[in-house]
Amino acid sequence: MKLWGGRFTKETNQLVHNFNASIGFDQKFYHQDIRGSIAHVTMLTKQGILTNAERDTIIAGLTGIEKDIENGTLVIDGTEEDIHSFVEANLIARVGDVGKKLHTGRSRNDQVALDMKLYIRDEIGAVDELLFSLLKELHRLMKENVTTYMPGFTHLQKAQPVTLAHHVGAYFEMFKRDRSRLADTKSRLNYCPLGAGALAGTTYPLDREYTASLLDFTGATLNSMDSVSDRDYLIELLSAFSTIMMHLSRFCEEIILWNSNEYRFITLDDAYSTGSSIMPQKKNPDIAELVRGKTGRVYGALVSILTTMKGLPLAYNKDMQEDKELTFDAIDTVKGCLALFTGMISTMTVNASVMEASAKNGFTNATDAADYLVNHGVPFRDAHGIVGQLVLFCEQKGIALDDMTLDEYKAISPVFEADIFDAIRMETCVTKRNTLGAPGPAVMEEVIRRNEIYLGEK
Ligand code: ARG
Repeated sequence: MKLWGGRFTKETNQLVHNFNASIGFDQKFYHQDIRGSIAHVTMLTKQGILTNAERDTIIAGLTGIEKDIENGTLVIDGTEEDIHSFVEANLIARVGDVGKKLHTGRSRNDQVALDMKLYIRDEIGAVDELLFSLLKELHRLMKENVTTYMPGFTHLQKAQPVTLAHHVGAYFEMFKRDRSRLADTKSRLNYCPLGAGALAGTTYPLDREYTASLLDFTGATLNSMDSVSDRDYLIELLSAFSTIMMHLSRFCEEIILWNSNEYRFITLDDAYSTGSSIMPQKKNPDIAELVRGKTGRVYGALVSILTTMKGLPLAYNKDMQEDKELTFDAIDTVKGCLALFTGMISTMTVNASVMEASAKNGFTNATDAADYLVNHGVPFRDAHGIVGQLVLFCEQKGIALDDMTLDEYKAISPVFEADIFDAIRMETCVTKRNTLGAPGPAVMEEVIRRNEIYLGEK
């Protein structure tokens, strides 16, 4: 049933119908569409625009439609233009003429704005759950690896020793911020556009604040033209999603490196790896690579909607229908990536001894050797030069700083004494880094305690 056939004398060209229709994708929010309609008729009745009996008939019809869609007896096919027409046509078919009163004081422009907001609100909740599960998994990894020493890198060159707990803790912070970005987006979008009509409000005495409260909004939007043409919340959502994907992608890049034959810091579980059709020895980190790869898709969605919106005059324009497929795809992508990534890291094995050996062999304790000299009165710049000579000596012999003899140390600087060996042990180097946020176990335990409180507050 067309909602707008009255002033037309010709049937719509079939290709035009297909090109224009959104039912192929907006059927995703049939639940939100029905929920919004129930709130709308409830408000219309409170305002004396519909009778109680009309309201009850319409709500029974809408509830029946939802139930039948869910149990599969009512199939959303492609004949209607969009989900709004589909629900209204079905309602009229079910309850008769009273169904034609549903759309009183409403336009599809404020209706679609409402549906999308309700849908996004629900999906933000689902993505937040997945982020929370990931944080719990990272928390477990941190607790188990407070003394798992590994090299910390800058420029992908071994720099100073850290622990796996510290490294994972960096991602804990990132995903924590991602949750708060989503919460921000949700609080800013949480104003109800229904009642804005097509663009200029309506002449019926609607109680917009009441509709807003029925649908758990903070309040009603304050400008009807903005209400139907605002897609800022999708831009914010896709920006927050892009940041989540960027974080996942960086972590994936590290997982891929760590799982390689060269690093062997971790071993991905067989259940989360795939093989090669030709090379029998291969066990590939495809999941990590795919998550890294899908990041581009989500960035694409953000750039796409920014571009769609940039030239639009007020108020509603059909261009805005383009907001849906890319947003839905980004939601599916982010949810899939978060779930798979969490599964992948919860099943991987940490090769602690390999990580520690790598930290030792990469001169990550060179700064500590310089600090030792400084603590014995050598100016830092001189200490830097002396340790540079130690490193050169070790490189020529193919050994670590820990493997030099005291005589060899003394030959380069007489300041060194036997306690240098304790000063440059991995454990000492890490334990001494005890400023808040550093890898030292005492402060790491403090951060873990704070994270525990954060996770408990959910
Ligand atoms: N399918 C449309 C969209 O997604 C719904 C709003 C249509 N409004 C209109 N006046 N054609 O944006």
